[in-house]
Amino acid sequence: MNDASKARKPVRGRFITFEGGEGSGKSTQIQMLADRLNAAKLRTITTREPGGSAGAEIIRHLLLSGMAKAFGPEAESLLFAAARDDHVAQVIVPALDQGTWVLCDRFTDSTRVYQGELGKVDPKLIRAMERVTIGELKPDLTIILDVPVAVGMERASKRRGTATPDRFEGEGVSFHEKLRDAYRRIAETDPKRCALVDANADPKIVADRVWAALRDHLFSVAAPREVETTKA
Ligand code: TYD
Repeated sequence: MNDASKARKPVRGRFITFEGGEGSGKSTQIQMLADRLNAAKLRTITTREPGGSAGAEIIRHLLLSGMAKAFGPEAESLLFAAARDDHVAQVIVPALDQGTWVLCDRFTDSTRVYQGELGKVDPKLIRAMERVTIGELKPDLTIILDVPVAVGMERASKRRGTATPDRFEGEGVSFHEKLRDAYRRIAETDPKRCALVDANADPKIVADRVWAALRDHLFSVAAPREVETTKA
């Protein structure tokens, strides 16, 4: 056997995305989960969208500064897609191929919700962009952090301090209500991929809920084994 045939390809890592409205606590929860996975000896990286790769971070600046707003939601969607394309190719896929777990702050559901549901961009365009940017790369699990709008806005405003709100933080209460509803609908429509987590609690309690979602969606093998035992 030569060296090449002996070299084993690592098992693909898992791809977990975090979604939610402003102030839902995504960054805190991503970090807490990364610490927990690393402690369990699962090599893990955290990343974010828009951004996460050198090219995508440039586009992030264009989008969040509000410079691209004047071009309209379709053009904004194309910019989010361009950023995603670079991020997937440069960071996400190479990491997963090396067996690393990837935790990503926002992904395609953000485009579906912000540009699709709220920006009224044609779902056909959203789906076409998904085909081009991610192809078969679906998240193994999407954690949707759910908080009442007033709680989320209060947290976001505390975190921001005296800084100016970005392109989307500056939207009003009804925008954020629609956002929350749209996320809840995604969780309902795709329960195999998505876990809706009540994030209106102490961060440690929320972290335990996130961990329970991983256990249920990714680590749970009990059901198929039970079925096998019954058959035997
Ligand atoms: P960010 O500063 O990363 O904040 P947050 O803590 O809310 O994630 O801002 C990212 C913003 O970009 C956020 O308001 C959602 C928006 N966004 C979209 O509109 N479409 C997208 O596809 C993505 C990835 C983000």
